[in-house]
Amino acid sequence: MTTLAILTAAGSGTRLGRDVPKALVDLGGSPLVLHAARCLAASGVVDRIVVTAPAGLAGAVSDVVAADAHVACPVRVVDGGPTRQASVAAGLALAGPEDDVVLVHDAARPLAPPELVRRVVAAVRAGHPAVVPGLPVTDTIKRVSPAAATRASAARPDPGPVVERVVDTPDRALLRAVQTPQGFDRALLQRAHAAGAARAAQEDVAATDDAGLVEALGEEVHVVAGEESALKITTERDLALARVLLEGRR
Ligand code: CTP
Ligand code: MG
Repeated sequence: MTTLAILTAAGSGTRLGRDVPKALVDLGGSPLVLHAARCLAASGVVDRIVVTAPAGLAGAVSDVVAADAHVACPVRVVDGGPTRQASVAAGLALAGPEDDVVLVHDAARPLAPPELVRRVVAAVRAGHPAVVPGLPVTDTIKRVSPAAATRASAARPDPGPVVERVVDTPDRALLRAVQTPQGFDRALLQRAHAAGAARAAQEDVAATDDAGLVEALGEEVHVVAGEESALKITTERDLALARVLLEGRR
């Protein structure tokens, strides 16, 4: 009965726009992937970590994470794939029958607190085979038509700005913005990735989270309370906010 954590770090960080992959970008003296690995290790409920590395950087990622004194559990580094889904699948290939719980966590969420990891694992071990952390949303969310954005009329002298047609407004009280780590019964996650394998090669159809693959099987997914500090680093603005949060912790 062990818990394996897959730490996804193989993305390029296009939207951050740095000259190194996002997981290796510095935050307060350590790369994002190291912060995330320390969080997993500090939870006390993770037995092993498999990190997915960008192409050609497995050695560099291993030097950073496996050598760190704060990451006390065994770490293996594998090459990631072309999409996040493919990277998780590559990590999952290293799960064994002894791993009854598998966590999937993003290096892009470096400040997720250890108690969040414990909460997710506790919910899985309490009998929920697929668990995601989630926060209530504060914005009103609109669903828009998938058809291409349009202008009012090309015939008018000034067609105005590009617009999208609103389809509906889901009840905000029923929405959650989900985070990682997400936790799963290992066999269920393997089944979900096997069933969704055809989507893994292409970014436009690949799953953006693992719970989505479980939902596609028709299996239940449950939400536990998320944490503001588990924010995802996508842009420079997120990184600036993370620096402020880290300063506050220190
Ligand atoms: N990831 C991965 N393998 C990929 C793509 C993404 O392991 N082929 C990981 C990223 O390293 C990140 C997490 O999945 O920890 C979430 O992805 P995202 O925030 O989209 O990161 P990037 O893909 O690196 O960023 P961008 O989309 O801006 O290029
Ligand atoms: Mg991405």
